[in-house]
Amino acid sequence: MQKDPSKKYRAYPPVVLPDRQWPNRVLTAAPRWCSVDLRDGNQALAVPMNVSQKLELFQTLVKIGFKEIEVGFPSASNTEFTFNRRLIEEKRAPDDVWLQVLVQAREDLIERTVESLIGAKRVIIHMYNSTSPAQRRVVFGKSKDEIKAIAVNGARMIKERLHRLKGTEIMLQYSPESFSATEVEYAREISEAVMDVWQPTPEHKMILNLPDTVEVAMPNVYADQIEWMCRNIKNRDSLIISLHTHNDRYTGVAATELGLLAGADRVEGTLFGNGERTGNLDVVTVALNLFMHGIDPKLDFSKLSSIVEVYERCTGMTVPARQPYAGELVFTAFSGSHQDAIKKGLAEWEGGSRTHWDVPYLTIDPADIGREYREVIRVNSQSGKGGVAYLLESEFGIELPKDMQREFGPIANDAVDKLGREVSGAELKAMFWQEYVERDAPWKLGTFRTTSDNGKVSCEATLLRNGELVTIAGHGNGPLAALVHGLGTTGTHFEITGYSEHALSAGETAAAIAYIQIKTADGKSRWGAAVDTNIELASVKAVLSALNRL
Ligand code: KIV
Ligand code: ZN
Repeated sequence: MQKDPSKKYRAYPPVVLPDRQWPNRVLTAAPRWCSVDLRDGNQALAVPMNVSQKLELFQTLVKIGFKEIEVGFPSASNTEFTFNRRLIEEKRAPDDVWLQVLVQAREDLIERTVESLIGAKRVIIHMYNSTSPAQRRVVFGKSKDEIKAIAVNGARMIKERLHRLKGTEIMLQYSPESFSATEVEYAREISEAVMDVWQPTPEHKMILNLPDTVEVAMPNVYADQIEWMCRNIKNRDSLIISLHTHNDRYTGVAATELGLLAGADRVEGTLFGNGERTGNLDVVTVALNLFMHGIDPKLDFSKLSSIVEVYERCTGMTVPARQPYAGELVFTAFSGSHQDAIKKGLAEWEGGSRTHWDVPYLTIDPADIGREYREVIRVNSQSGKGGVAYLLESEFGIELPKDMQREFGPIANDAVDKLGREVSGAELKAMFWQEYVERDAPWKLGTFRTTSDNGKVSCEATLLRNGELVTIAGHGNGPLAALVHGLGTTGTHFEITGYSEHALSAGETAAAIAYIQIKTADGKSRWGAAVDTNIELASVKAVLSALNRL
């Protein structure tokens, strides 16, 4: 890397807007949304979608609730043209959905684009040309006036052909491409020149899309540019100001949110941010960010996982595990303290004492977007006893006493650490079984019988101790007290300091699980656990399990 980056790079100059208003505003309503998945997203794929993949994704976008969908660049290829024709001829778009198409300001391309739209119900014709100093200098080698002439001529060519779309409701859209790298005064000048041709009115507005084609500055600078345009362009009330951010500096979402504060009406973006280079704006994130602030986003992501599935199948892209809202790991806590806080927060929420969501570490209720609480807690070596206990309880109904959680947590943690990976609930259960339930040496139960007389319980038991038969008899005020007494006669002295039991499963093979904590004369304390269809036998075996762990 360059030792002194200032010799090669420089900051993008900010707009002068000392009385900027956007920092004092808050968002209160969803913008108009336009999906550009089938165009900007598609053009960024190594293998662009075929017609049937585009159709499937289109249907999904409609289901989500997009009312404006940029369906392609019909003059760019046969696939794009055919796709447009199929959407129109097979009447795939609901009447309230606008089909948007992109076209450069070139006559042959405009001609083909108009042809592709014949018979459509509602269309947005989106024309663009690039306006930044670098584009003017490097790509076109043209002056500002010459670049403006490209836009004006393109606007005229479109206007002259609109009569061919009889019966179609039409909106026109202009993008000064690379807007955020263009001098704002020039962006205004060229946009107003296009407006002069198209003559938008408050009743029949045009869309002025102001793209952050390549993120060249911090999101506050984009917000200033948007506010400057909203305040300085003529006939603002005849315009729908639209944002179209990319993500080169990883702040596409921030730029869009600040751009909305700055006065924009509309947002273009893609599902999960697919798009050129680092991607387009992720509309899912912006929409669900609004949702988490209590604003109806007017897009339905209640089955987000199935949207991910369609998206991945159609585009061949994958949604990263840390993708906001949609990623596999975003409602997962590995760390013990997080798990504990989430568990308590969810319990409080389920108790119904709170009106508004305020669960630590979870910005929204995963259930609102079709995800499950079960996903929230997973266990790896960073996890504490809380996560271990949660998985055992939620997946197998094993309710470890608190004190036993403190004993088993570090045991499980050590085992998981050795494995060096995440473990499933079933693996944790197997660890628990191995540590407690399957311990049968040195002590193993043969038979256990009790009789009771006036509250006094006597027991007789046959046991194996290191494979050798031992018979014991004891008395006490209950079966366990009798067992403790009987074992004492063999020189095994201890007291029971903790006890808990519960049914484990319903049905014919219903079993009970017992948890017993013992303490020896020399102060050692151990938990044991055992399972049996007979609760008395389960607790006797749990005592032996604890002894076997000394
Ligand atoms: O990023 C961009 O500037 C574009 C335009 C065509 C709107 O995709
Ligand atoms: Zn773009």
